Formats: sequence, structure tokens, C-alpha cells
Amino acid sequence: MEFRKLGRSGWEISAVGLGAMPLSLKENRPDEKQAIGVIRGAIEAGVNLIDTADAYCRDDGEAGHNERLIGKALNELPGNEKERIVVATKGGHVRPEGRWETDGRPEHLREVCEASLKNLGLEAIPLYQFHRPDPEVPMADSLGELKKLKDEGKILNVGISNVTMSEIENAEKVVEIISVQNRFSPNHRSPETDGTFAICLARNIAFLAWSPLNGMEEAKKLGEAVPDVQEIAANHGVSAQALTLAWLLGKGPNIIPIPGASRVESIRDSVKATGVRLSLEEIVRLDTCWKQ
Ligand SMILES: NC(=O)c1ccc[n+]([C@@H]2O[C@H](COP(=O)([O-])OP(=O)(O)OC[C@H]3O[C@@H](n4cnc5c(N)ncnc54)[C@H](OP(=O)(O)O)[C@@H]3O)[C@@H](O)[C@H]2O)c1
Repeated sequence: MEFRKLGRSGWEISAVGLGAMPLSLKENRPDEKQAIGVIRGAIEAGVNLIDTADAYCRDDGEAGHNERLIGKALNELPGNEKERIVVATKGGHVRPEGRWETDGRPEHLREVCEASLKNLGLEAIPLYQFHRPDPEVPMADSLGELKKLKDEGKILNVGISNVTMSEIENAEKVVEIISVQNRFSPNHRSPETDGTFAICLARNIAFLAWSPLNGMEEAKKLGEAVPDVQEIAANHGVSAQALTLAWLLGKGPNIIPIPGASRVESIRDSVKATGVRLSLEEIVRLDTCWKQ
């Protein structure tokens, strides 16, 4: 496993993280035993970054579902292995009747952060991310509360998600930002041109790429109709999915893709990306073929 830095925190994290969302949100989600097996399997494969959110649940009635699975998996780890795992959770989305709505009010963020601590069975959250700016609440107010939670020791690092370049710049005026989590995949390449990836690279902020395999619905079809992807993947002896993650890893030293998995085979395959070294010619071919 290759390790990378979690931005300015200097923490060593696996270059590929586990996106835990499908364990709660996939149509036929696994039962609890299987879900914990996926988390365990990821850790056994060398992953030490696990991404979750209080909102990874079917609706508000089961808020924290995904975090509780992770909490249980961590508690079953032998010795002090739990301390090695960097859990990255989020607050700021709510799921009334299964809808995705934002709530960035400081009092809400405090309440859900404290619930996340309980769900995860942790005394401090390694990385707490503001899930999405709330149009009804100034972002500085939301982040101001996260700064207070950090000062109180409940959060160790603060990240933001689904943000623009200017939101990253303004957020840094309120609290030190360790990571940005935005969508980045073959079918969603805006970070390359909208300044978000560039500013993270320049400021040593980790960039966590969400839905890196084009999302839960599209991941299995990835590269099926793209001959260059098929050929380069075969040359390296990896799947189109692992090749895609290797291509993303090549975008810069600060990028950490967080592929989702509801089956242990998926994350085992995904971590193979860290062993792939692409030539410049292959990178150019992939950059070009995904655009078609
Ligand atoms: N910040 C945000 O707003 C936001 C939004 C969306 C997602 N996220 C985060 O990003 C993570 C990843 O996004 P995502 O889960 O939506 O999409 P994704 O990672 O693009 O795709 C996930 C799907 O890919 C499949 N997969 C993974 N590795 C594979 C492999 N090597 N070979 C074949 N299939 C593979 C999995 O299938 P199986 O289910 O069969 O294992 C899984 O269902 C989420 O889990 C979540 O943590 C964040």
C-alpha cells in the first residue's frame, strides 16, 4: 500500500480510502455482518482512511447507520489497531423522508458531531468534514462552530466538501482546512479546470475524490466501451476500475480517491491501483479517451 499525507496534518493515510456509503445506501445493501466484513477486509488490505457521514442512511429515522457500522468494526479490531484508522465523517446534510437537504446551522452541527462521536465510539473525530454549504446559513458560521469543536478537542482536523475555489479560500480564513472532498472521476472532471484541485495542490490540502468510479450506478460499466482503457488495464494486469484510480492518483500527490464498496472484493481490487505506475504516454491516452 502506498501512503500519502493528509494535507498539512502530516498524517499518513492510505493512497486509496474506503468510501463506506454503499454499505448503507446501496439498493440491496449488505447485512450488518457482511458490512463489517467489508470494513475489516479494507483494513486488512492496508486501507486506513474510511469515509462516512451521519447522513449515509435511508432517512433521518436511521441517521448514523453507516457510522455505527464503522464503530462496530473498529471496536472488533485487535489491540490498539483502532488508533491507526483515520475516520473521516461529515455533518451538514439531513435526510427527511430520504431526501437530501442541508442544515449548516451551528447548533445542528454541534448536535450531529456529538452523535457521530457516540456512533463511532471515538473520543475525537480524526477528520470532520462540513458536508455541503447551506444556502440559508453563512458558511463562516457553520465553520466557526467546527473550529469551536476542534478547539474543544472533539474534532482533530476539519475538512470541507462540495465547495468552489472561493469557498475554499474563504473557509481558510475561519479554520485551517486539511481536506477538500469534491467529486472527481472520468465523467466528472471539473476539478481539473475549476481551480479547486489547483488551490488544494498549492496549499497542501488533501483532495478526497468522491464517486471516483463514476458513482454506484455506473462503476461496473466503467471503461467498457473505451478501447484505450481496456488495453492499458490489460497491459498492467488490473481492472478498469483499478486503472481509473491509478489515473486519478497520478493527478497529484495530494489526491486520495475514496471508492465505495459493498463487497470486499471491490475494495481489494481497488487498492491494486497503488501498485500501478502509468507512463506519460498512458496518462495522456487516458486523459484524452475519457473525454470522448
Ligand atoms: N462528499 C459527498 O458529497 C459525497 C457524495 C457521494 C459519495 N461520497 C463518498 O465517496 C465514496 C465513493 O463514491 P460512491 O460510492 O458514490 O461511488 P464510486 O466509488 O464511484 O462507486 C462505488 C461502487 O463501485 C463499485 N466498485 C468499487 N471498487 C470496484 C472495483 N475495483 N471493481 C468493480 N467495482 C467496484 C462498488 O461496487 P460494490 O457495491 O459491488 O462493492 C460500489 O458500489 C462514497 O462511498 C462516499 O464515501 C461523498
